Amino acid sequence: MPELTPEVREKLITLAQQAFENAYVPYSKFHVGSAILTEDGDIFTGCNVENIAYPVGCCAERTATVKMVSEKGPQAKIKYIAVATKADIPCTPCGMCRQTIQEFGPNAVVIYKGDKGYEERTISQLLPGAFTDFVSLEDDGTHTSIQSGA
Ligand code: THU
Repeated sequence: MPELTPEVREKLITLAQQAFENAYVPYSKFHVGSAILTEDGDIFTGCNVENIAYPVGCCAERTATVKMVSEKGPQAKIKYIAVATKADIPCTPCGMCRQTIQEFGPNAVVIYKGDKGYEERTISQLLPGAFTDFVSLEDDGTHTSIQSGA
């Protein structure tokens, strides 16, 4: 696991905690915030934004990731991503967010509250056997290999 200093860890958790104050959560009332440190040293934060049509809502981790890509461009990579909740209870990224983190941070370390306080796991630990490539069968019979992040 890449070196994560206590200072960076604390900073990202604090930023994630600040970010959940902006959460739009009239349905779940579950405020979530997230903070990303990119491989380039930039920081992006996000909160969950819900919708009356429930599946339309966006988790905090994906909000932060979409902000990162939108502001930095498609090559941006997540180095660390922290998740915090106002309820201050254990909360790990959902499956959809894990797949999104994998796409933009194949080496990312996720910081989240577990049963014994904040802990870190690599995205590979949280999403073993991730879907990262497939083969596209073209009309002319040729095959094209498609890989995540390529
Ligand atoms: N949520 C997040 O934003 N991140 C997580 O890691 C877990 C769940 C949001 C989605 C929804 O707005 C609310 O929490 C309840 O599921």
